[in-house]
Formats: sequence, structure tokens, C-alpha cells
Amino acid sequence: MERAIRIHSPGGPEVLRLEEVSVGMPGPGEVRIRHRACGLNFIDVYYRSGLYPLDMPAGIGMEGAGVIDAVGEGVSHLRAGDRAAYACQPPGAYSSARVMPAKNVVRLPDEIDYETGAAMMLKGLTVQYLLRKTQPQGGLQPGDFVLFHAAAGGVGLIACQWARAMGLQLIGTAGSPEKCALALQNGATYAIDYRKENFVARVAEITGGRGVKAVYDSVGKDTFAGSIECLRPFGLLAVFGSSSGPVPPFGLQMLAAKSLYVSRPTLFTHLASREATQEMADDLFGMVARGEIVIPVERRYALENAARAHAELEARLTTGCSVLIP
Ligand SMILES: NC(=O)c1ccc[n+]([C@@H]2O[C@H](COP(=O)([O-])OP(=O)(O)OC[C@H]3O[C@@H](n4cnc5c(N)ncnc54)[C@H](OP(=O)(O)O)[C@@H]3O)[C@@H](O)[C@H]2O)c1
Repeated sequence: MERAIRIHSPGGPEVLRLEEVSVGMPGPGEVRIRHRACGLNFIDVYYRSGLYPLDMPAGIGMEGAGVIDAVGEGVSHLRAGDRAAYACQPPGAYSSARVMPAKNVVRLPDEIDYETGAAMMLKGLTVQYLLRKTQPQGGLQPGDFVLFHAAAGGVGLIACQWARAMGLQLIGTAGSPEKCALALQNGATYAIDYRKENFVARVAEITGGRGVKAVYDSVGKDTFAGSIECLRPFGLLAVFGSSSGPVPPFGLQMLAAKSLYVSRPTLFTHLASREATQEMADDLFGMVARGEIVIPVERRYALENAARAHAELEARLTTGCSVLIP
């Protein structure tokens, strides 16, 4: 039997229960992976709380790293014994082992340890598609200003480093002076404590009133209107999360004054094929191998303490990435 965190109904962190489960052999297009570490992500909170519905009972977690121990028919890119890592649907990563679709599983380079692998896939591939592919009209050039909310979080600290490597001037927002300092250490050019300062006014000041070319907003409800205000004409707002709650419906007319673009992108649209997953992962692995990005694994929890990990993530107590150890 294997150990897995499961939920039987949506709710608070207390619905996360450690259970014994049997994990069978992989079917066609699947692999079985024995986890060494599992990633903690804010999307896990959306699934646990019911914002994103799941058939119950359900596993949880979408990121992990470990060793492949069985391979199903038709899977040619992985073998038993391979070190591997993934970001994938459906949830089920909070476990000692699982059977899962092979499409989004890639071999983990030898120089990357399991905890780093488990922390970096969902969050790092998200930064990859945001900064490289979710760009405003005309693209992003060195020196351009972008605004990135929650810059001291898991996705945020990777984004600060990736933006620095691209030569961008990333203005990061974060919820305390310590978090702002962390964002700056990781490559943000400016940091704004948006719990104390008006970020719209500060962005205007920093950019000499011109605004930014792109805003990457995972906070959602609380920041949406201000993010729109921070954009220059033809700018792009990418709303990629809802940490403060989903953005309420809005009238398109609010985009007209500056001819703005709004996108609501998700990682899993980008990871539609095995080839696309590998290409994005190779870019991320290259950034890490060259030392341009150091994955900030700040907290480690035993698998059975998943509820505590969720409570701390939701209470805004974490910075960088956290992993669960099965
Ligand atoms: N669409 C996609 O493809 C995709 C993929 C990955 C992640 N995401 C999204 O990206 C965001 C970051 O994910 P992550 O796993 O790295 O989490 P995280 O950034 O480490 O944690 C969330 C952070 O959001 C900030 N926040 C602002 N208002 C909040 C509120 N009311 N409640 C809780 N937190 C609040 C907090 O930072 P401060 O205290 O500094 O404000 C908190 O630390 C999440 O919204 C996630 O859903 C989207």
C-alpha cells in the first residue's frame, strides 16, 4: 500500500487526510512514479476549497519528482529507473507513489536534486510561458518595465530571476518589507509593499508616468483594477491566478481608453503535448543549469503535515517554494 493525501469533500486545510491507497500498474500512455518530493502550489488550495471542482474522493497536488518504477504501453521517452519530474493534471502528487499520464513527465537532469525538481516544474514552467510567450504587442525588450504581483512567492521569486536574465525591469509587489527585500535580492529592480503603499501611484512614479508594458497578476480580485491602471497604451494584463479571489465580471469598455489586451492563461494549455512540455522544460533546466535561476526551496513539510503547509500558504506566511516529503 502507498500513502496519499486525499479529500472527501471540499473545505479548509483540515479536509486533507493521509490515507493508505493501492496503486496499480500503469496503463497505456501512463507511468508509475515513486515520489521523493512533491511541490506545494496555490492551485492546490483552489482544488481543496472547491473553487475548482473535483470528483470525490480525490487526490491533490500537481507537481513532483521521483523515480519511475513502471512504464505503460506506448511510453517511449521514459524507462524504469529514470529520475523524473512533472507538472500535470489530474491532482494526486501528494503521495508516496502514483500512476499518472506520461505526457507531462520529463527526465530530471542529474545535476538537479529531487526537492528542486519537485519545486520548480509547475512554478518554473509557468514563469517560462508568462515571460517568454505571454508578451505585449511588439514583445518585451531589455529595459522594459513589467509589473509582477506577489513577487516573493513561489512563482514570484522565479519570475524575478528570469526577468533579470532577460534584462527586464521587473517591479514586484509583495506583502511585507521582508518580502520586498527578498524580491529585490532575487532580481526585481523595484519592490512595492502593496499592503502599505498604493502600488498604482508608485508604478506611475517609477515609470515617469508612462506605465508598464505588461502586468502579470496572480492576486486577482484585489489587484485587477489597479493592474489595468498601471498599463501603458496597448499594454497586456495577464491574470494567471486568484490568490485573493476570482476577478468579478467586467465590461470590455474599461479596456478601450488605452486599447489594452487581457489574457487569462493557464499552464496546462501550454503543456498540451509531450513535445511542448519537453521544449519548455529544456528552457527551464537550461536556466537552472547556467545558474541564472536558483530555485528557492524555503520550507519542507512531512507529507502528513500537508494541512499545516496549506494553512501557512493561505495565511501568506511562506516565501519562495515549499515541498512535501513523502
Ligand atoms: N495560471 C497558471 O498557469 C498558474 C500556474 C501556477 C501558479 N498560478 C498562480 O500563481 C499564483 C502564485 O502561486 P504560488 O503557488 O507560487 O503561490 P505563492 O505566490 O507562493 O503564494 C500566494 C501569494 O499570494 C499573495 N496574496 C495576495 N493576496 C492574497 C490573499 N488574499 N490570500 C493569500 N495570498 C495572497 C501572498 O503574497 P504577499 O503576502 O506577498 O501578497 C501569497 O504569499 C497563484 O495565484 C496561483 O494560482 C497560476
